[in-house]
Amino acid sequence: MKIGVAKEIKPDEYRVALTPAGAHELARRGHDVSIETGAGDGSSFPDSAYQGVGARIVSVDEVWADSDLLLKVKEPIEPEYGRLREGLILFTYLHIAADEPLTRALADSGVAAVAYETVETDNHALPLLAPMSEIAGRLAAQAGAYFLEKPLGGRGLLLGGVPGVAPGRVVVIGGGIVGYNAAVIAIGLGANVTILERSIDRMRHLDEILSGRVSLVMSSSLQIDESVKEADVVIGAVLIPGAVAPKLVTRQMIREMKDGAVFCDVAIDQGGCAETSRPTTHSDPVYEVDGVTHYCVANMPGAVPITSTKALTNATLPYVEEIADHGLREAVARDPALARGVNVLDGRITYEAVAEAHNLEYMPLEDVLPLSPV
Ligand SMILES: NC(=O)c1ccc[n+]([C@@H]2O[C@H](COP(=O)([O-])OP(=O)(O)OC[C@H]3O[C@@H](n4cnc5c(N)ncnc54)[C@H](O)[C@@H]3O)[C@@H](O)[C@H]2O)c1
Repeated sequence: MKIGVAKEIKPDEYRVALTPAGAHELARRGHDVSIETGAGDGSSFPDSAYQGVGARIVSVDEVWADSDLLLKVKEPIEPEYGRLREGLILFTYLHIAADEPLTRALADSGVAAVAYETVETDNHALPLLAPMSEIAGRLAAQAGAYFLEKPLGGRGLLLGGVPGVAPGRVVVIGGGIVGYNAAVIAIGLGANVTILERSIDRMRHLDEILSGRVSLVMSSSLQIDESVKEADVVIGAVLIPGAVAPKLVTRQMIREMKDGAVFCDVAIDQGGCAETSRPTTHSDPVYEVDGVTHYCVANMPGAVPITSTKALTNATLPYVEEIADHGLREAVARDPALARGVNVLDGRITYEAVAEAHNLEYMPLEDVLPLSPV
């Protein structure tokens, strides 16, 4: 298969959809890999690194026009809509339930659009979202520690303390992938860590893997109120799948937090879990409300493109290989997780939540692409 990798043109996006190691793997399997000029630059992968493993460096026009399978990181933006076409398989983050113009552009073009974020295993894991949550969780603990520094408007507290001086307190609301990873780094820094979670099963699991190193507490508004008051860093990491984040931290709770404490709302991409949260960017990451520093960057992994690109490729490569080796029809017949990733095909919306979001007709994938069992 002809596999192309386009350069990201969205502002502040430095990731690329394939590492040279991934390109090598695909080339080794007999596929023809083309990389758009400079696509890897933001992640410190120069064109020569791809050429060295047998990939070709091509122009933007060629990568879009000549590929059978086009790999990207972010959804196409308007200047790219005209490049969508029938016969192309596009594999990328799409998030089109929140983007009607793109949904229509994909459907009108006839492209086969497979979304990283809806690839879903039978046990409801989202393998292509998880690596970004891991990174965001780890970054959240780092950001919390950093913005506690006095010159940055923080309390002036070293999160880990030193022998003879108590460490700071970190409260993580939501003990999923983001919350677990935030806790791991905060523990590593020496902080005193509490995770508030509402799933007993999840808490049992956290107890097994973090045994004794964190306090695990059932989440309730009273408990959040009490914990947040005592915290030096609060990390918002809740998710209710498919819904906007619940506003668990009220303005009043923020008012009662310590002066110079940090509130890091990772759930900001789902609207944020505090009444005082609003999205920020890497170039201007924080603002202050009632003496509390708010860090609410909506695309945290973008700050560490080298790590994010490698983590993303690690997760996507097996699915890229499935599509490339078997073609989309057979690949989705073999793998139901990948089939759930198909959002738009032959002008039809094949992902129910997307159709519902835009009042468009939904057509199950098996009706658009009759699947023969393998
Ligand atoms: N800002 C960024 O750059 C960025 C990057 C990655 C993920 N995220 C976001 O981070 C959030 C968390 O993602 P995740 O992958 O960890 O999700 P996850 O599903 O793995 O974890 C969410 C956890 O929140 C818990 N939860 C739900 N309601 C709760 C409540 N009332 N109190 C306490 N816990 C509650 C759930 O039980 C679950 O364990 C999501 O909104 C995700 O989109 C943001």
